[in-house]
Amino acid sequence: MIMKNGKHLTMGIESSCDETAIAVLADGREVLSNVISSQIEIHKVYGGVVPEIASRHHLHNIPFVFDQALEEAGVSLDEIDEIGVTAGPGLAGALLMGTAYAKAVAMAADKPLVGVHHIQGHIMANLIEHPDLKPPFLSLVVSGGHTSLIEVRGYNDFKVLGETRDDAVGEAYDKVARLLGLGYPGGPKVDKLAKEGNPHAIEFKRVYLEKDSYDFSFSGTKTAVINYLHTEEQKGHEFNRADVAASFQKAVVEVVVNKAVKAAELSGYPAIALAGGVASNSELRKELAEACKKHGLKLYIPSPIFCTDNGAMIAAAAYRKAMEGKFADLRLDVWPALDLEKETYKLDAVSVV
Ligand code: KG4
Ligand code: ZN
Repeated sequence: MIMKNGKHLTMGIESSCDETAIAVLADGREVLSNVISSQIEIHKVYGGVVPEIASRHHLHNIPFVFDQALEEAGVSLDEIDEIGVTAGPGLAGALLMGTAYAKAVAMAADKPLVGVHHIQGHIMANLIEHPDLKPPFLSLVVSGGHTSLIEVRGYNDFKVLGETRDDAVGEAYDKVARLLGLGYPGGPKVDKLAKEGNPHAIEFKRVYLEKDSYDFSFSGTKTAVINYLHTEEQKGHEFNRADVAASFQKAVVEVVVNKAVKAAELSGYPAIALAGGVASNSELRKELAEACKKHGLKLYIPSPIFCTDNGAMIAAAAYRKAMEGKFADLRLDVWPALDLEKETYKLDAVSVV
């Protein structure tokens, strides 16, 4: 194994949605480079990510992002110890671009390959800046595609306590943003507009589902927003968009925070690690911090740049898999609907028949 100054270098490649991102990490934490090429401007005109267009742009961008990631890290490919790549879940065509590139590099440079579950990446992003964070802990994953409460029993050992039965939190934010005419991606825009509104102006539905359930449902809250806007329009009332944004956000954040704290307390975990794109939401960060303080729980949150999709989180997860010998080989496939708890093993060579 080649070492740079005695350090173990991991490359992480992410292309599951609309970010082409590659990073180099030393010893699983130290970020030597974290290059992110976003396609937001391209998809904005369509109001959402168009899968085929995303794949074509990944194909075009990956070689440039790859070169820049090595250059900024100040290392050569020879010095990299393993190549990690997101193999699922995500858009099939987009995932294929990343995995095909990673396999080609791994084969050409004779490097070990690691298949990474995108959500494992989001969770492991917490390790980058928090050396004291060690499993077991509870993770609240809130992204454009996922909303889950997960027991992180080990670096590669997860138990999903609950997940959304319909929309993911980020998806609900994006839909409400569209209704309010804020454009794509809506989450950060709703977050910003909500700061000017009254969160108690409108009582939108809070959906807790069955008692003791850790699952989520946001379609009811989203429908409540749609109904409110229709009713106000029909009455010819001018509605305050900032109040709608703030009240929607309050309803969603309240449920997510209450469920996360309850899950941590019941499972006995002393810490919650927040993960995923919506983890950069200012209200969620604030409310969860207050709730954790009140209940004596430690809270870990990555910096915003490590919350939304990036290569560093994939490298952080790949490093943990490599440390446990969980390598893939050139048969690594893409898994658009990969299950974290049950099927992460599919990414390891040993189980691919
Ligand atoms: O994790 P991510 O980058 O991609 C997925 O894996 O899905 O998350 C993207 C999601 C989008 O729905 C976006 O609107 C949302 O995260 N998001 C936010 C904020 N920043 C990003 N939602 C609410 N508030 C934010 N500040
Ligand atoms: Zn993501």
